Amino acid sequence: MNRATLADPPLDVARLRADFPILAQTINGRPLVYLDNGASSQRPRAVIDAERRYAEEMHANVHRGVHTLSQRATDAFEAARERVRRFINARSIREVVFTRGTTESINLVANSFLRPRLKPGDEILISWLEHHANIVPWQMACEATGAVLKVAPINRQGELDLDAFQALLSDRTKLVATAHVSNALGTVMPVREIVTLAHARGVPVLLDGAQAVPHFALDMQALDCDFYAFSGHKLYGPDGIGVLYGRESLLEAMPPWQGGGDMILSVSFTGTTYNQLPFKFEAGTPHMSGAVGLAAAIDYVDGIGLGRIAAWERMLLDYASERLSAIDGLTVIGTAKDKASLVSFVLDGVHPHDIGTILDQQGVAIRTGHHCAMPAIEFFGVPATARASFAFYNTREEIDVLVDAVTAARDMFR
Ligand code: ALA
Repeated sequence: MNRATLADPPLDVARLRADFPILAQTINGRPLVYLDNGASSQRPRAVIDAERRYAEEMHANVHRGVHTLSQRATDAFEAARERVRRFINARSIREVVFTRGTTESINLVANSFLRPRLKPGDEILISWLEHHANIVPWQMACEATGAVLKVAPINRQGELDLDAFQALLSDRTKLVATAHVSNALGTVMPVREIVTLAHARGVPVLLDGAQAVPHFALDMQALDCDFYAFSGHKLYGPDGIGVLYGRESLLEAMPPWQGGGDMILSVSFTGTTYNQLPFKFEAGTPHMSGAVGLAAAIDYVDGIGLGRIAAWERMLLDYASERLSAIDGLTVIGTAKDKASLVSFVLDGVHPHDIGTILDQQGVAIRTGHHCAMPAIEFFGVPATARASFAFYNTREEIDVLVDAVTAARDMFR
C-alpha cells in the first residue's frame, strides 16, 4: 500500500469536490452526502469531458477502418490501454484486457482459464468474505466439471484465517481466488501472503481488486498475482468498462472465451486463426469511450496521488469508526486491523433498509443489504447491514451528518 508521508501536503478537499458536479446538489432538500462509493464512485469533470471529447471528436469503430476517425478512436483506445498498463505496472499491454467490469473479468478466467483445466475432484480455493462475483463463476465451473469449491474461514473481526487457508491448499487446488479488499466488511486481505503460499504449491492466484483499486497504488509485478480484476466505475471512471490483468504466459495459453469480430486474424469455414493478445479476448466492438474515460480517471487519481488519498481515507475511516461505534445500540460488522475506508454496521431494533431510507431523507446515500456477499454477512448472524463507504472527496463534516442521521433513525424506533 502506498502510504502518504508527513511531507505530503494534505488534500484540499473543498477544491477537489468542485471537480465533481454531481456532489453539488441537494437530495430531499439537504446537501447530498454521498457515502456509497463502494457501490460506485462519482466522476470528476475531467472524466466527463474526456468521454464527451471522444464522442464529439474521435468516435468511430476501433481497429477496423483506414479513415481518420477510426484511426483517432484506435489511438485513443490503445493509449487508454497503455495508461492502464502503467497504472498497474503490468509488463506489457498484452497483459491488459478490457472487459465490462470485474464480474466479466472473473467470468473470463473461470471459462477460459479454469474450466478446460478442471477434472472431477479438483479444487478451487476462495475465502468466506467474497463478493458473489468471486463465488458464483467458480460454483458454475464446479457444476460443469465435478470440481469442488473450498472456502477458507474468517474470524470474528472479518480477517482471513491464514493458517486454515494454507491447510486448505492441496495438490488438487487449481486456482486461488480472493478479494484484495472485502466490499462488505472493508477487510484488506493479506494478498502477498496468499500469493506466496499459493505459488509455493504451484497454484495460480486471481485477485478481485474491485474495492482495492480506488484506494491503493497497484503494482502487478511486485504483487506477482496471476490475474487481477477491477472496474472503472469504482475508480471515478465510467461504468461498463473494466480490466482483466493476466500473466502473459497464462493468457497466451488460454483459448478465447467469446468469439466474434476483432478477436480473429482470419476466418474461413475450415478454420479460424485467433488474434494476438490482448485482442484475442476482446470480441466485438469494445467500450471505447469507457476506456478513454477510465484513462482520464487514472490521470485524475494519479494527479492527486494514491498515497495522499490513502492517508485522507484513513483519517475518515478512523473518525467514522470512532463516532459510529459510540452510538448506543450500533455494532460495527468487520473490525479487521487492516481495513479500507468503509464501515458496515447494524443498529439494534432497526432494519438496515429502514436506516437507508431514513438517511436518504437527510440527503445521505449509503448502501444497505447483503452487499452481494451473502455468506460474509450471514457469518455475522445478520441478514443485512448498513454500509457507509468513503472516497477522498468525503469530509469529517459529512461523517457528522451521517452520525446524526443514524442516531435520529435509532431514536425513531425506540
Ligand atoms: N459490488 C458493489 C458493492 O459492493 C456493487 O456495492
